Amino acid sequence: MTKKYSITLLPGDGIGPEIMAVSVKVLKAVAQQCDIEFEFQEALIGGSAIDATGTPLPQETIDKCKASDAVLLAAIGGYKWDNLPREIRPETGLLGIRSALGLFANLRPATILPQLIDASSLKKEVVEGVDIMVVRELTGGIYFGKPKGIFTTETGEKRGVNTMAYTESEIDRIARVAFETAQKRQKRLCSVDKANVLDVSQLWRDRVIKISEEYPDVELTHMYVDNAAMQLVRNPKQFDTIVTGNLFGDILSDAAAMLTGSIGMLPSASLGSQNPGLFEPVHGSAPDIAGEDKANPLAQVLSTAMMLRYGLNEPTPGDKIEKAVLKVLDLGYRTGDIMSEGCKGVGCQAMGDALLSVL
Ligand code: IPM
Ligand code: MG
Repeated sequence: MTKKYSITLLPGDGIGPEIMAVSVKVLKAVAQQCDIEFEFQEALIGGSAIDATGTPLPQETIDKCKASDAVLLAAIGGYKWDNLPREIRPETGLLGIRSALGLFANLRPATILPQLIDASSLKKEVVEGVDIMVVRELTGGIYFGKPKGIFTTETGEKRGVNTMAYTESEIDRIARVAFETAQKRQKRLCSVDKANVLDVSQLWRDRVIKISEEYPDVELTHMYVDNAAMQLVRNPKQFDTIVTGNLFGDILSDAAAMLTGSIGMLPSASLGSQNPGLFEPVHGSAPDIAGEDKANPLAQVLSTAMMLRYGLNEPTPGDKIEKAVLKVLDLGYRTGDIMSEGCKGVGCQAMGDALLSVL
């Protein structure tokens, strides 16, 4: 029997619509092969939602997302909306949908593909074989902690405040996701914090140690975030799975991404316990090349593979997509961001066509 899934597409801004179009074609192609049917519906988020409705996250978008089986997001933001007040910035829409869907666990893999080893700015010996999964807490920490805001002090000076806070239950649930993720990998988990300075990190560390009792097969280590940043660049192969809070995860996942040469290659999955998951590339909306058919669609396409695997429990079509991506790279197709000597430079659409012909 044909399985049917409803997918909400959030193309967003900048290169978003271009890379989303490629992903939808790829999804339709694998669906045919795997006896799956997708029903797609689009919704607004970010700058395009601001332009159309005055808010970066219309209620209609939240409702559509909640009613679907999975959400595929491309990217949000652009120069045009950079000077708006925080409540109506595109980023607020992204944080809003993560929070509205309760997507507390963000999985960001950084895997070096042998085909792209020359694209890394680090030496081949250092990055060869790197395969890291960053598990970032996504709905807590300093991104959401209260009090927050810009207040005026008694002396009339302004004071900006954000609060880094985690409750035990918030730490426990992300720790469990991380241990379970590590169990499916090399069973090594490194928890990154700043427990030498921050109380919130001390509680983080205490809880992660407590939860580790449930996962005796996983080797747990701890690292301070500054050292982790250094170690990621010095010797990234020491890491298997990393678990960390929202802000540290934001920073470290960009660093980990760049080990692979291009942030244009990396997908992510955001999962909660009840609502559908949301799948999006790690990169942003690249307004500088929007509409020029230059964007690399592969991170978006790989995000659809994560959607199939983690969101819909359909690993077979997910595998097919991942294999197709490796195949087009083997065939030498490269967008500008991953271009190297002797390869065939292509635009976004042509990369999509190459994927379709391989599929
Ligand atoms: C990310 C982005 C977002 C974040 C921004 C756009 C709000 O940098 O997904 O990593 O900080 O989480
Ligand atoms: Mg980021």
